[in-house]
Amino acid sequence: MSAGIVQAAYIVAAVLFIMSLAGLSKQETARSGNYYGIAGMAIALIATIFGPESQGTVWVIIAMIIGGAIGMYYARRVEMTEMPELVAILHSFVGMAAVLVGFNTYFDHGDLSGVMLNIHLVEIFLGVFIGAVTFTGSVVAFGKLRGSISSKPLMLPHRHKLNLAAVVVSFLLMVAFVKAEGSTIALIVVALIAFAFGYHLVASIGGADMPVVVSMLNSYSGWAAAAAGFMLANDLLIVTGALVGSSGAILSYIMCKAMNRSFISVIAGGFGTDGSSAAADEDHGEHQEASAEEVAEMLKDARSVVITPGYGMAVAQAQYPVHEITEKLRKKGVDVRFGIHPVAGRLPGHMNVLLAEAKVPYDIVLEMDEINDDFSETDVVLVIGANDTVNPAAMEDPNSPIAGMPVLEVWKSKHVIVFKRSMNTGYAGVQNPLFFKENSQMLFGDAKDSCNKILEHI
Ligand code: TAP
Repeated sequence: MSAGIVQAAYIVAAVLFIMSLAGLSKQETARSGNYYGIAGMAIALIATIFGPESQGTVWVIIAMIIGGAIGMYYARRVEMTEMPELVAILHSFVGMAAVLVGFNTYFDHGDLSGVMLNIHLVEIFLGVFIGAVTFTGSVVAFGKLRGSISSKPLMLPHRHKLNLAAVVVSFLLMVAFVKAEGSTIALIVVALIAFAFGYHLVASIGGADMPVVVSMLNSYSGWAAAAAGFMLANDLLIVTGALVGSSGAILSYIMCKAMNRSFISVIAGGFGTDGSSAAADEDHGEHQEASAEEVAEMLKDARSVVITPGYGMAVAQAQYPVHEITEKLRKKGVDVRFGIHPVAGRLPGHMNVLLAEAKVPYDIVLEMDEINDDFSETDVVLVIGANDTVNPAAMEDPNSPIAGMPVLEVWKSKHVIVFKRSMNTGYAGVQNPLFFKENSQMLFGDAKDSCNKILEHI
């Protein structure tokens, strides 16, 4: 394949990636967005592998077959609830790839000299730094999301000073690295500092702020890929990395807004602290329970119902019976709508994906801001496996680890039914005063079983 054709293919691939991002921004077009992305990546791979600069094509193809088979095996097996972990570990691969490309390019940087050599050395240094931070940060995020690492923040003494020292020392090392026209020791030392920095950065972020961390690492992995693109002088990798990096950064900003956090304070760590707010230990009184039959009666008498799903709906795979309940009630003339919190579940858009999978019509699925004012006019709210996202402590208790996070104000409705298996806390480890309110009743059990029992009585 000639260099001209490769460049043309890269432009087509880049346009397809942009169309993919545009498609993914709306539920209705998300499927075609995925197809554009797949087509763009296929074109990019073919052009790169068969391009004039490519060597050892057979090895590349063997590596792709092995990697593709492993990827396909895990992607087929992964449960929807494990998606965030999968995404986190995939980000770590991008980070490690950037580190390896950095070292490889350093040992084999041809016969550059003068300004060109300096620029190339800076690219290598930054690529290794960003890649290493992304790698360990993503591994810690994977562990926290999987539950193998505690979601509590690591609060080392002087942690901000440690972070600052890591950045300053790395910068000084970069200056020395460029001045010396390359130094293996400096590159190894900065890789080690960046590994520790990435670990510390994510380990010191509390459970409640994990959504921001996941999208932030998404952004880092994009910048790591862009850095690799500079090192390899591959235009498409630069463009693709920048697209991922900037869209991840925008998503992080949206997440921060949704959680009422400043981006800098999330990065600096310490929020979502130790889950030991006053509310956690407070005696909230007694909770009330309801049976599936009672809930079914309540639903039949209601004029308006709002369903607020959370992570528990994903665990129980309750979206299908939830859809059936919705359809039955709508046929009886009940106004049923869904209220989706921006960080419900474990990844951005988690609830939207599940509801779309169960074929819930898009027009009754509303964002938190669109539905929050309507709760006072709502007869029944079904809280299906949600906890932190409907916790009034976020608004009422300034000492709560989730204080300041806007939540779905479900308690303003006439009746609230909470579907969960126990009185356990949600992801942030905070007790929920909603469960003890006079207008709240608990429907204990697996959310799918509870929905199926309700269906029998409607
Ligand atoms: P959570 O606060 O995590 O609560 C989920 C609830 O579901 C739990 O209290 C659990 O109670 C219940 N549950 C689990 N399995 C169930 C089942 N089979 N049947 C019925 N209930 C079940 O959920 P949320 O309101 O969606 O909040 C999301 C949390 O995750 C937030 O703190 C958010 O910051 C964090 N987070 C979000 C993201 C993104 S991007 N969305 C990423 C990482 C972290 P029982 O154990 O008693 O059943």
